[in-house]
Amino acid sequence: MGQPCPHESARAQVAGQAHYIDDLPELKGTLYAAPILSPLAHGRLDAVDASAACALPGVRGVVLAQDIPGDPILAAFAHDEPIFARDSVQHVGQVIGLVVADSVVAARHAARKVQLSITALPAILTVQQAIEQQSWVLPPVQVRRGDAAHALQHAQHRLQGRLEAGGQEHFYLEGQIAYALPLEQNQWWIHSSTQHAGEVQHWVAHALGVDSHAVRVECRRMGGGFGGKETQAGHLAVWAALAAHKFACPVKLRLDRDDDFMITGKRHPFSYEWDVGFDDSGRIQGLELMMAAHCGFSADLSGPVADRAVFHCDNAYFLEHVAITSYRCKTHQQSHTAFRGFGGPQGVLAIETILGDIARYLGLDALDVRQRNLYGLQERNITHYHMQVEDNILHDLLPKLEQDARYRQRQAAVSAWNASHPLFKRGLALTPVKFGISFTATLFNQAGALVNVYTDGSVQINHGGAEMGQGLHTKVAQIVADELGVPLARVLVTASDTAKVPNASATAASSGTDLNGRAAQYAARSVRDNLAAFVSGLDQCGAGAVRFAGGLVISPKATRRWEEVVKEAYANRIQLWSDGFYRTPKIHYDKTTLTGRPFYYFAYGAACSEVVIDTSTGEARVLAVDILHDVGRSINPAIDIGQIEGGFVQGMGWLTTEELVWDGQGRLATHAPSTYKIPATGDVPEQLRVSFWHEANREDNVGASKAVGEPPFMLAVSVYEALRNAVAAGRVQAGTAAPTQPVTLTAPATAENILRALGRL
Ligand code: MTE
Ligand code: HPA
Ligand code: MOS
Repeated sequence: MGQPCPHESARAQVAGQAHYIDDLPELKGTLYAAPILSPLAHGRLDAVDASAACALPGVRGVVLAQDIPGDPILAAFAHDEPIFARDSVQHVGQVIGLVVADSVVAARHAARKVQLSITALPAILTVQQAIEQQSWVLPPVQVRRGDAAHALQHAQHRLQGRLEAGGQEHFYLEGQIAYALPLEQNQWWIHSSTQHAGEVQHWVAHALGVDSHAVRVECRRMGGGFGGKETQAGHLAVWAALAAHKFACPVKLRLDRDDDFMITGKRHPFSYEWDVGFDDSGRIQGLELMMAAHCGFSADLSGPVADRAVFHCDNAYFLEHVAITSYRCKTHQQSHTAFRGFGGPQGVLAIETILGDIARYLGLDALDVRQRNLYGLQERNITHYHMQVEDNILHDLLPKLEQDARYRQRQAAVSAWNASHPLFKRGLALTPVKFGISFTATLFNQAGALVNVYTDGSVQINHGGAEMGQGLHTKVAQIVADELGVPLARVLVTASDTAKVPNASATAASSGTDLNGRAAQYAARSVRDNLAAFVSGLDQCGAGAVRFAGGLVISPKATRRWEEVVKEAYANRIQLWSDGFYRTPKIHYDKTTLTGRPFYYFAYGAACSEVVIDTSTGEARVLAVDILHDVGRSINPAIDIGQIEGGFVQGMGWLTTEELVWDGQGRLATHAPSTYKIPATGDVPEQLRVSFWHEANREDNVGASKAVGEPPFMLAVSVYEALRNAVAAGRVQAGTAAPTQPVTLTAPATAENILRALGRL
């Protein structure tokens, strides 16, 4: 642990030798499926005529709702989503059925020839329409602390504002895919690119009407998940399994990129309205905040996503008198889902926007205002959901980054630059992140693992987590290698597999290593204990005196090679394998009131970003970024830096170029890389400096580390704030607004949205 070892698959991936599902050798007789999509946002589905499609060469037939042997409703937690649209269609791209053919091309071609009779119905396409019609996937939630209305009335200053933040397409490089293989006696083997094999198993069993024990789900790795494969990989697996059931053949379903865009949900777009009261120093006195999550046609994970937005709309700040209203809007759109940060970014964006405008209004430096609002160390340290913030390091971390990034000097330089450049305006901002680690649903914070030691001394690990590029398997291998004192090369992690470790949670909420790493550590410890007891018998010493390090087993009497001890232990009938189980301590949470301690600890960080905008075209560029981020004691610094850089750039994409456009009929107009722009290498800031905050996790976590997958995403809010500062400078120059006026910048800050914020469009 602590070494920057390369990712366990890096070489194989670079050499094109790492297998993704579409690379698996196909079984003889494999058929291919393609989805039949709704062309309308909302309508009554009167008839499906597949005769023309079925007459095409190579087509075997179609799979529709009536072909489902089990429950036609997906086993998702809200039970509100039909597996295939039956009587109605609820979004453009909703899957009505599949065409199954001898080749992918034949299936896709035929899917477009299926005739659909649909009577159009009025569609709800915006959050505003949903709120007017009280159209919810789940009921509204209110969280309050103190008396916000009273605090607002008596505040020294008051500002109202609103904001729109767009969604985000996951754009995993490997699209959604499943390969379903019928086995003997109605048993099933599913290869799924999924973050949650256990959920896929449950959904497939439910749809087929079989027990979970008859379904085995496997995933060696994903080519990215980012939350998009937390639930929605399950749909493909269920669809492929239903086709395999109907035709009694293996069936592969791999979505075309455009179809993937049209069918699957994205990050939830959010609309906000607020009323904030504050004093002369910029300290918030009272806040009323409305957050409306655009959920699409079904609940999916919208409940916990919107909850996490509520938990993070404080970001790092004490909100004494606060009233939050959270709407979970049902619209005729794809069902929006988990995406890195899981509602956290949407919460953080709101409060950072508010603080930026407060600073502008008062003519104060925004970093000063942010620091004044931070959670205190002794007092002002209880969140609005009643959790005490015990591990706040921002009082030290922010000043360190302020110095390292030369924030004050550069702020002066930016002002000077803006005073002398009429066309180009610069902006600089430094913003913190505090992100709660744990699944908010307490029950998911458990994990299992299996560690097998073979007689040659090699070690195989299986655990409940999934590899999606984040380096989980590498870290877990490092943890087990440390525990057994063997070289990393002797340790192998195998595919996620419901037949090896059952009932595993999704690999999500950044807690993959915390949960599975600890479970694997416990499993390895129990094998080690067996070996230590064996050696203590040989050497007449206490088992505690036996050490495992550097491939050696060392007792006070003798030093032996690991391989030698393993072989001897086997000959003496000592168990060389074990399971391990871990559940996160201390957490508890009441879902009805949204109060308790939902998080085991917080991960912190801060970023300082400098941008420049062209006030005539609205184009923008991120010039330099300094990040200081808290990963506790890093298990693998190389992987952690990769996660920080990747998370930051993905966050930048959300807030700058990645714009999803639905037209007036609810059709997603941006459904391919030609129109949907993720950051390219050229968008990565020329200066992107990442440092770690060197302090162990104050809670007892594996290797004293902290989770790193999601928190850095929110560091990109510094880019958004820097852009708003640049816009403010542009407006002052143009004389279109006073310097104290709030800057309303719709996210993502595309060139058009920057021009709008400047008052030029
Ligand atoms: N990194 C890569 N390369 N690919 C991914 O899909 N997903 C992110 C993050 N980092 C992702 C990633 C998300 S959304 C989460 S929740 C975490 O990884 C999950 O993995 P962990 O819990 O092991 O960090
Ligand atoms: N984070 C990510 N995924 C989840 C969560 C969460 O808090 N809860 C359920 N799925
Ligand atoms: Mo990550 S959004 O929790 O999969």
